[in-house]
Parts: sequence; C-alpha cells; structure tokens
Amino acid sequence: MLKVVVCVSGGGTNLQAIIDSIAAGKITNTEIIGVISNNYGVKSIERAEKAGIPAFVLSPKDYSERSEFNKAFLDKVKELDPDLVVLAGFLVRIPEEFVKEYSNRIVNIHPSLIPSFCGVGYYGLKVHEKALERGVKITGATVHFVNEGMDEGPIIAQKPVAVEDGDTPEILQRRVMEQAEWVILPKAIDDIANGRIKVSGTKVISAF
Ligand code: GRF
Repeated sequence: MLKVVVCVSGGGTNLQAIIDSIAAGKITNTEIIGVISNNYGVKSIERAEKAGIPAFVLSPKDYSERSEFNKAFLDKVKELDPDLVVLAGFLVRIPEEFVKEYSNRIVNIHPSLIPSFCGVGYYGLKVHEKALERGVKITGATVHFVNEGMDEGPIIAQKPVAVEDGDTPEILQRRVMEQAEWVILPKAIDDIANGRIKVSGTKVISAF
C-alpha cells in the first residue's frame, strides 16, 4: 500500500481528483495518510476532512525564519512517514533538504507542457496568461518528479490540451485541469503505486 501525503495551497481540485480516483478504484494500492496546507481556511482542508483524511496547516507566516518553517515542514512529513509526497497546487518553495531526503518520492503537477511555460514565476494563472500571450495553440499539463531544479525533474506524464479562440486565462486553466491535470495526476499515482514507473537518470521509464 502506497502511503501518500498531499500538499496543497488552495482549492484542492487535484486533491479531490485523487480522493475520487481512490474511491472509484482507479487508483489502487494507495492511501492518502495526510494533507498539508500552507494556508488556513482553504477549500482543500474541507475536502480532506470530508474524506476523513487528517489535515494539517503549516504556514510560513507563523515562523519568523524561513529555516524554522522548513524544519517544521520536514518534521511533519517525517512524522507522517509517506512513501510518496504529491504537490498538488502547493505554492511554497520546497526546502532543499526535503528534496534530497525524498529523492524520486515527490511528484508535482504543473499546468503546462514542460519545458514550456515553467520555472521561476510560472505558477497558477500566470502560466495560462503567458501561454495566451505567446499565442500557442496547444498547452497541457505535466506530472514530474521534483528535484533541486524548478520544474526540472524527470517527467512522468504529459497531456496536451487545445487552446481555443476567446480563451481567457481562467477558461484555459479550467480546461487544462479538466482535460489534463485531473487525469494524469491520478494515473501517475496509480502507476507509481503499482510499480510501473522507474527513474533512469534524468528520465522516467514507464513499463506498461
Ligand atoms: C493547478 O493548476 C496545478 O497545476 C497548479 O496549481 C493549481 C492547483 O489547483 N500547480 P487545485 O488547488 O488543485 O484546485
């Protein structure tokens, strides 16, 4: 049984997709053992509690030094002791020591086809604003392992999504979530839980 901790910042629709996929048997051999939010009062916490999953808030604002927050965050993850940490819209810079300690055991969902529209400054709606500004006809989402670089770890899965005339960042964001994020993130977790994913150097090799 793969024990998963999901880290969130806001709405938690990706968290919900994972919860629903486990309930529907689309993700097997997997249990969410905890949700960590860096914000108080967000919908993600409600979603976790409704599903009977322990939810914890760890906000950098509650610590005078970033290093103290980093330590508290790492301590909490270690206490929960997951096999996999899923960053599902987690808008906090991940402590380096955490990445080192959980090498190839942290995955992130990013709302573009990496290496487009990723890296520093590309988060949330901004990713879709930039895609529309550039006029791309195809965008999408990527699930990848997290390494020391920003959105640079081995890619597990990607799914393209069409940009349509008249799209606003909000409309495009919703389409990317519905058609890509909520599909590939649960699938990637199921693949990891069932031993279908192997990392070889900078790449993921999927055995299907
Ligand atoms: C998603 O678009 C995800 O790709 C990005 O942040 C958003 C989180 O949405 N990293 P939600 O909290 O899962 O609804």
